[in-house]
Amino acid sequence: MAPTTVLITGANSGVGYATAKVLASASENFHIIMACRSLENAENAKSEIEATGIKGTLSTIHLDVTDQKSIEQAAELVSDKFGTLDVLVNNAGIGNRDPDLKTRFQAVLETNVVGPAMVAEAFRPLLLKAEKPYSIYISSGLGSIAMAGGASGPDFPGADAYCTSKAALNMVMAREWAVYKSKGLKSFAMCPGFVISNLRGKSEEARNGGAFGKAEDPKVSGELVLSIIEGKRDADAGLFVQKDGIYPW
Ligand SMILES: NC(=O)c1ccc[n+]([C@@H]2O[C@H](COP(=O)([O-])OP(=O)(O)OC[C@H]3O[C@@H](n4cnc5c(N)ncnc54)[C@H](OP(=O)(O)O)[C@@H]3O)[C@@H](O)[C@H]2O)c1
Repeated sequence: MAPTTVLITGANSGVGYATAKVLASASENFHIIMACRSLENAENAKSEIEATGIKGTLSTIHLDVTDQKSIEQAAELVSDKFGTLDVLVNNAGIGNRDPDLKTRFQAVLETNVVGPAMVAEAFRPLLLKAEKPYSIYISSGLGSIAMAGGASGPDFPGADAYCTSKAALNMVMAREWAVYKSKGLKSFAMCPGFVISNLRGKSEEARNGGAFGKAEDPKVSGELVLSIIEGKRDADAGLFVQKDGIYPW
């Protein structure tokens, strides 16, 4: 049986790494393509996960979501090797606290919105060749205008650009769903939860949540991705999912 191929951007740390590990531990039928901007970090992450005794298989590929050429080359390599892609997890993302508004908005929107849209465009032809394809965009509850846009919404350095980027990413997903659902593609915006990662900084304190509170193990994010791929959330396709239900836009 051909493996279920899953490409995860930003798979060398945090949510992406944990998702690669959860999926590769779940079934021998998963092949996870760890798509990272540093191949060295990708290889190190791959070896670490393999050392835990996984059932599935892993490979690495260079992909910088801000570099269209690297995206196209990665899509070509995946096409040559597998001919199809079952699952795309658009996970890579950043925050930015630059005091200059234009600088931080441009940086965050380029990585968190334009990048995933380009990645989705490049890999969609391969997804559309798969029997039951999934396109998952790792968003954030902070992208919910209903939850983060009110007077009690978050107020941290760079929140303006980050929240805006995730609201826009949700629309990238919604447009994909509108156009490609009739072709069998199931698209999701997914909040991974508040989990340990490098997103807030690389110090132990920042990784664990810092001023925001105590972050959870990112395996919960991986388990949510797994439940989507297993079809358990099919009724929620086109929506903004989180582990306990749906977030409002
Ligand atoms: N952690 C949370 O609590 C939380 C909550 C809500 C949403 N999220 C979302 O979850 C996703 C993953 O973030 P994380 O929390 O796991 O943070 P993380 O540990 O910093 O992981 C982010 C990943 O994205 C990669 N990346 C950044 N820019 C890239 C680029 N231009 N091209 C390719 N890869 C790039 C990073 O690579 P490098 O290692 O090379 O920098 C890293 O692998 C993000 O979309 C984030 O917004 C996280």
